[in-house]
Amino acid sequence: MMAKNYSKQFMAWVTGSKNKLFFWAQLKLTFFYSMIIIAILVVSSLGLYVSLKKNIKETYNDKIKDHILRQEAIQVTNDRIVNDLILGNAVLIVFSGGLSFFLASKNLRPIKKVLEKQKRFTADASHDLRTPLAIMKTDCELSLKKKGISKDFKDLAQSNLEEIDRMSAMVDQLLFLSRNNGILNQQMEPIHLGKVMDEIVLSCGSLAQNKNISLTVGEIASGSINGNRLNLEKMFLNIMKNAIDYTPDGGKIEVSAKKNKDKIEVSIKDTGIGIDPEDLPHVTEAFYKADKVRGQENGGSGLGLSIVNEIVRNHGGTLHIESKPNQGTSVSLTFPLTG
Ligand SMILES: Nc1ncnc2c1ncn2[C@@H]1O[C@H](COP(=O)(O)OP(=O)(O)O)[C@@H](O)[C@H]1O
Ligand SMILES: [Mg+2]
Repeated sequence: MMAKNYSKQFMAWVTGSKNKLFFWAQLKLTFFYSMIIIAILVVSSLGLYVSLKKNIKETYNDKIKDHILRQEAIQVTNDRIVNDLILGNAVLIVFSGGLSFFLASKNLRPIKKVLEKQKRFTADASHDLRTPLAIMKTDCELSLKKKGISKDFKDLAQSNLEEIDRMSAMVDQLLFLSRNNGILNQQMEPIHLGKVMDEIVLSCGSLAQNKNISLTVGEIASGSINGNRLNLEKMFLNIMKNAIDYTPDGGKIEVSAKKNKDKIEVSIKDTGIGIDPEDLPHVTEAFYKADKVRGQENGGSGLGLSIVNEIVRNHGGTLHIESKPNQGTSVSLTFPLTG
């Protein structure tokens, strides 16, 4: 019971850690280094033991004539050597484990720095792009309001305005992704996940209706998770938007939230175009879009699911996507319940 509590706390700490990815990489490297050291220790100790055993036997054969006494002396000396070797190896393993952990962190540091630099660059660039985009938007809107403008000009300004909106949304998403480390600093509170999902589904009602898609809400279990409301809303919205965008007219979307022991499992199933098996492992990567939806009018810039993935990870949850081309996609999210 106590161990379970500690392991829970440890997992919470690990999943809550800002640099979870690096922490796991560090643990993995430590494990590999330790395995190499242990292998070397075991082989050298075995070699040492075999050679010592042979030497002892030869020496005692010469020195002790009495058979029983000799056997006893050999046994006692052997036992002592085994004990010393085990103790010595145990001390060395603990010491080398600590050293491996330290070395792993040292080796990963340059990669961490480069990644942080790149993230900072993306964050700064997307932040700085917001102002000119906002100015362009206002200019376009103002020129559209002017009297006596030609139809061609109006069409051009309208189309520019749409592109500016798309670009602004993309810049916002990029900013969100590059600042995801800040998610944890945002307010976390007990959230009734089913309710949040219900609200998002409701707000997507008209979008679905426009495409004649039937939206059904199944079982919605109660229970809360420790989360950030805005991020969780963003997460559901991105998944729902995908389900609607990639389901042809007349399709079906089903959502549910079920309790499973101390977890809540949310499922969003659609009867849409599905994802090809070769695309499936990549859909959570930033800017990844399956070939068949590229150039399609609807949909976004390929950042939606990477944002979902970040939010799920930062809430200690898991994301699982199953899909069959031309049959549909099922997105499952699992979160640890806290109440
Ligand atoms: N429900 C779905 N049905 C079919 N394809 C999907 C679905 N959800 C995501 N995808 C595929 O995964 C890609 C990445 O999704 P996402 O990150 O949200 O980007 P996008 O901005 O293109 O929607 C999409 O371009 C699409 O190819
Ligand atoms: Mg999307």
